[in-house]
Amino acid sequence: MKTLIKNGTLITASDTFISDLLIEDEKITRIGLNLEADSDHEVDATGKLILPGGVDPHVHLDLPMFDTVSSDDHYTGHKAAAFGGTTTAMDFVVLEDEGFEHSVDLWMKKAEKAAIDYSFHMNLTRFDEKVAKEIPSLMEMGIQTLKVFTAYNGRLRLDDGSIFKALQIARDNGMLVMAHCENGDVIETLTTQALADGHTSPEWHAHTRPAWGAVESSLRMAAMAEQANAPVYIVHMNAGGEVDMLHYARERGVKVMGETCPQYLFFTAENLSLDNGAKWICSPPLRTDQDNVRLWQGLSKNILQTIGTDHCPFFFDGAQPIVYEGSEIAIPGKELGQYDFTKIPNGLPGIQDRMPILWTYGVNAGYITPNQFVAYTSTNPAKIFGLYPRKGALVPGADADIVIWDPEKQVRYGRTHSHQRTDYNLYEGWELLGYPEKVFLRGKLIVDGDEWKGKRGDGMFLKRSEGEVL
Ligand code: URP
Ligand code: ZN
Ligand code: ZN
Repeated sequence: MKTLIKNGTLITASDTFISDLLIEDEKITRIGLNLEADSDHEVDATGKLILPGGVDPHVHLDLPMFDTVSSDDHYTGHKAAAFGGTTTAMDFVVLEDEGFEHSVDLWMKKAEKAAIDYSFHMNLTRFDEKVAKEIPSLMEMGIQTLKVFTAYNGRLRLDDGSIFKALQIARDNGMLVMAHCENGDVIETLTTQALADGHTSPEWHAHTRPAWGAVESSLRMAAMAEQANAPVYIVHMNAGGEVDMLHYARERGVKVMGETCPQYLFFTAENLSLDNGAKWICSPPLRTDQDNVRLWQGLSKNILQTIGTDHCPFFFDGAQPIVYEGSEIAIPGKELGQYDFTKIPNGLPGIQDRMPILWTYGVNAGYITPNQFVAYTSTNPAKIFGLYPRKGALVPGADADIVIWDPEKQVRYGRTHSHQRTDYNLYEGWELLGYPEKVFLRGKLIVDGDEWKGKRGDGMFLKRSEGEVL
């Protein structure tokens, strides 16, 4: 099967140029002007942009937590991702008592319904001699990333000594540690005190997780990485001070990389004081306008490396069903914490929203260039996580994961456009200029305007190898 895309404006992480592009079966085979090919389909992309499919390095699908489960699974979340221009997503395997292989098998099973390509990170939430010995086996499974937590005491957190050892093991095996940076001890203390004082409303989620904890633990993580001579990737950077720490460490040659997420660019802790404040509960929490500005600067100046979503959706009111693909569904959600903010499931929807929202409010607004947009949402995550140039690239030989983007399309965004399986959208009513028109996954057209042409099982597990340190 050959598809010839004519006269598009190709945007890569470094260049912008008009060209034709030929897809043969699952791959891009030729890029150039005036291509002639005996194609089965021809797409006129005059006036349209051609982008590599988005790579979302940070999502949580079908994740059991807070006595419920994140409300998108590997089909619904992937379908939503595709409508937003993302064709690869990476989510996190929960480490079960039985060990890595068993845990990965469970996640493989969940992902049998995948609709876009995917891979996994491993949550390293336990550390002992046995776990340490088994870590390299993850590389054989195609998983080269471990997520560690400096918060969630007694549940997910590792002590600094264990994190340091994990960094050394990662270094010796071409793996990468990803770090959730907050101060678990401060959070525990402030949370206990807040509840004892009768503070149960959502804004206390932010009051009890101060930005300073994120700032100092980001620097601590960078310092440990330097002392272990290992790379580290700090997930969901949310505080302006973290950008400063990232800059400080990178200027000194530390192999530390940073990811932020759209929610930390557009919203603040004030959202938690609204009547529906629980909708904005995520960890780390939303911060201030000044933090938003500093994060944008970190992107403009290439201090940060990626924009993921941390997509971890819950219903706002899980007692009220919504209709998804013709069937009613309700999944317990944020209402679980209506009398106690510590019981509100942590996480926000965003897998579909990321690219359209960032295009209008990042690129059109002048904070980042179109090339930076491609770098942050596709090329850099593909490089860091060992998928480049198969993913994140518009070059012959790459997978034909392609987005034809209409820069003139106007959309009043919100739930009516969203395929995320939840009952609200953070960007309800936001005006967009620029939107995905067609999305190809390995040469197969899976989104055509409003039409879903993909299906369960279209997605494939991507075995990853050692990534790049950017
Ligand atoms: O609130 C969030 N972000 N939930 C997902 C888990 C995490 O720490 O990334
Ligand atoms: Zn996290
Ligand atoms: Zn996360």
